[in-house]
Amino acid sequence: MKRTLSLFIFLMIAFNLFAEDGYRLWLRYEQIENIPVLNAYKKTITGIYFPGNSASRSVAFEELAIGLEGLLGKKILPVNTVSNGSLVIGTPKSSPLVAQLVLKEQLLKTGDEGFVIITTKSNQTDITVIAANTDIGALYGVFHFLRLLQTQQIIQKLSIVSAPKIKYRLLNHWDNLNRTVERGYAGFSIWDWHKLPDYIDQRYIDYARANASIGINGTVVTNVNANAMVLIKELLIKAAALANTFRPYGIKLYLTARFSAPIEIGKLKTADPLDPQVRKWWKDKVNEIYSYIPDFGGFLIKANSEGQPGPQDYKRNHADGANMFADALAPHGGIVMWRSFVYSNESPEDRLKQPYTEFSPLDGKFMKNVAVQVKNGPLDFQPREPFSPLFGSMKKTPLFMEYQLTQEYLGYATHLVYMAPLFKEVLNADTYAKGPGSTIAKVIDGSLEGHSMSGMGGVANIGNDINWTGHPFGQANWYTLGRLAWNHELSSEQVADEWIKQTFSNNKQFVDTVKKIMLGSREAMVNYMTPLGLHHIMGFGHHYGPAPWFDKASRADWNPVYFHKADAAGIGFDRTAKGTHYLSQYAPEVRKQFEDMDTCPEEYLLWFHHVPWNHKMKSGRTLWEELCYKYYSGVESVRTMQKEWNSTKPFVDKQRFEQVRQLLAIQEKEAAWWRNACLLYFQTFSKLPIPGGYEKPDHTLEYYKSLNFPLAPGNAH
Ligand code: GCU
Repeated sequence: MKRTLSLFIFLMIAFNLFAEDGYRLWLRYEQIENIPVLNAYKKTITGIYFPGNSASRSVAFEELAIGLEGLLGKKILPVNTVSNGSLVIGTPKSSPLVAQLVLKEQLLKTGDEGFVIITTKSNQTDITVIAANTDIGALYGVFHFLRLLQTQQIIQKLSIVSAPKIKYRLLNHWDNLNRTVERGYAGFSIWDWHKLPDYIDQRYIDYARANASIGINGTVVTNVNANAMVLIKELLIKAAALANTFRPYGIKLYLTARFSAPIEIGKLKTADPLDPQVRKWWKDKVNEIYSYIPDFGGFLIKANSEGQPGPQDYKRNHADGANMFADALAPHGGIVMWRSFVYSNESPEDRLKQPYTEFSPLDGKFMKNVAVQVKNGPLDFQPREPFSPLFGSMKKTPLFMEYQLTQEYLGYATHLVYMAPLFKEVLNADTYAKGPGSTIAKVIDGSLEGHSMSGMGGVANIGNDINWTGHPFGQANWYTLGRLAWNHELSSEQVADEWIKQTFSNNKQFVDTVKKIMLGSREAMVNYMTPLGLHHIMGFGHHYGPAPWFDKASRADWNPVYFHKADAAGIGFDRTAKGTHYLSQYAPEVRKQFEDMDTCPEEYLLWFHHVPWNHKMKSGRTLWEELCYKYYSGVESVRTMQKEWNSTKPFVDKQRFEQVRQLLAIQEKEAAWWRNACLLYFQTFSKLPIPGGYEKPDHTLEYYKSLNFPLAPGNAH
C-alpha cells in the first residue's frame, strides 16, 4: 500500500514536472535529443566565464545556467580562467578579456542593446564570446545563444553581429485595474494590483524573461481606455514594484494616462492642456512617478476617441494634448505615444479618412519625444486591411506601428492564426513617400526620414491562463512581435521555424507540417471571414462571429451594413474619387493602383469598390461565384489544417496535441458558420444560387441571425 502510494506520488510529481501545459512558452530548454548535436554542444560549451555584478548580469547568468543544464543534461559551471569550451560573456567594461577579444568595430555596430557572438581563440583554446556594450546587450546575446541551441544550429563557427532595428519594442496591455482585460481571451490580467507591491508573482519574472528573450523592452501595463486611478500614489507604488521586477530584463514600464485625470483625481476644474494649472498638475504628477520609477518609460494615450476625453474637449488639437505630456516627461527622458485611432460619427466623413484628416496637418507640431502610434490599417485590426495612409504622410513625426496580438477580430483565442504574414504584408507595403521602395518597414524603423525614435507595439494577447495566451499558437504571435521589432527583415517562415522548434520539437516532419499550418492560417481566416476586401462584418460589441446584417448600432460606422454596402447592384465600399475619395490620402502611385477596379489587387477589391455581382474576376468567375469560392475554400483550408495537425500526433505531447485538436474543431465549426451566415445574407442581395457541388449551409439565415452571445469574453471597459 505504502509502495503504491509513493509510486503514485512519484508519478504525480513526474507528470507535473513534465506536463506540457504551455507555461514555459518557447523557453523550455528540454534536453537535446539529437545525440551528435548534443555531443558537439557539450564539447563546445564547458564553462561560463561571465564577470560582473549587475542585476542584468545576474539574470543573464542564471538563464544561461538553467538553459544549458536543461539542453545539455548537465550543469555547466562558472569558471575563473578561460579554457577550451569556455563561454566568455560580458562588456569591454566588465571584462578585459572581452575588450581584448572582440573587435571595436563590431561592437560599434551593436549600440546599447545589440550583441556580438563569435567563435574565437584565446591562448590557443577554442572559446565562444558573447559581447555587448551593455549588460542588457549581453542578456540579449545570451538569449540568442540559447535560441541557437534550442533550434539546434551549428555553433562551432559563429560570427553574429545583431542590433535591433527598432528602438521601442512594446507590448500594450489593455488590462483594467480590476483585472478584466479589454478584448482579452486568455483569462484575467496577470497584474494582481491588490497583492502588489509586496507579492511578486513568479509570473512577472517569467513574463520579463519571455519578453527579454525576444527583445521586447517596454510594456504598457494598463488599458488605453484609461482609469485615472493608476496615477494615485498607492497605485504608483505598486507599479514601481513591477518596474523593479522588469528592470534587470531591460524592460521599461509605461502607463496609460487618462486625459481628464487632473479633474478626476486632481480636483481641478479643467483638463485643458493649455491651462497653466493643468500643465503644472501633470508636471508634478510626472515628477512623482519618476520618484518611484526612475526609468519610467512614459505614457500611451488614447484621446478623443470612442468617448475618451481629450484636448478637443477644450477646442485644442492633438499636438496641444501630446505636447503637454511631452513637456512634463522630457526632463526625465520619457516619451509620449499618442494614438491616431480616432473617429467621430458626428463627422459625416468616411470613418477611415478621419485619422489622416486630424493628424496630417499636425505634422511637425509635436515635440521631439512624441510619437504618433498608428494601427496597421486605417480601420481596426481587421483580418486584412490596406496599410494606414498616415504611414508615409507624416514625415516629420516618428510613427510607431500598433499591431493587435489579441484576436479581437481574428476568432478570439480559439482560432489558430499565425500573424507574421499579416505583419510582414504591412511592413513590406510601399508608401511611395520618397519614391518606390519607401516601405512601411523603413517608415517605422525611422530610416526613411532619419528619425532616431522608432517603435512597434502589439496589443497583448496575454492573460492568466496557464499557457498565457489561451490558444497554444497565440504564443507564436507574441513571439513574432518581438522578433520582427528586433529585425523586421526576418521572414514569416524563419520566425515560425524558430518558434516551433523551441516551443514543440526539432523533429523535421513535425516542424514542416506545423509550419505549413501556420503559414497558411491567416489567409484561410481571411477567406472564411472577410474575403476580397470585406471588413467589419462581425457581431456587434463583442465582435464575435458573423453579423453582416447588423444595422442597429447607435453610430452608423459601428454597423456592418455601413461597411459592406451590399445591395441589388453589388457589394463593397466605394472609396474612389467617385465615392468617399479616401484613396486621395495615399501617394499617387498607391492611389492609382487601388482606384481602378482592374488594377486593384482582388484581396482589397471590396475595400475600395462597390462591385457588380456579375463582375468578371481574374479567375474567370463572377464576383458572386468568387465570393462563394473564397468562403468555401477558407473552410476547406481549416479542414486541411485539422488533418495536418492530426498527423503530428506521434511527435507532440498528449496535452497540447489534444488542446489544439479541440480548438481546431471549434475553428472548423466557426469557419463554416461564418461562411454560411455571410453567403446566405449576401445572397438576399445577389439573388444568385450558391454554385452546385458545394455543401449546403446547414441552417437558415434566420437561424444565424437569431444567435446571441451574452457571455462572449473581452468586452469590458
Ligand atoms: C477597438 C476595440 C476597443 C478598443 C479600441 C482601441 O475599437 O474594440 O475595445 O478600445 O479598438 O484601439 O482603442
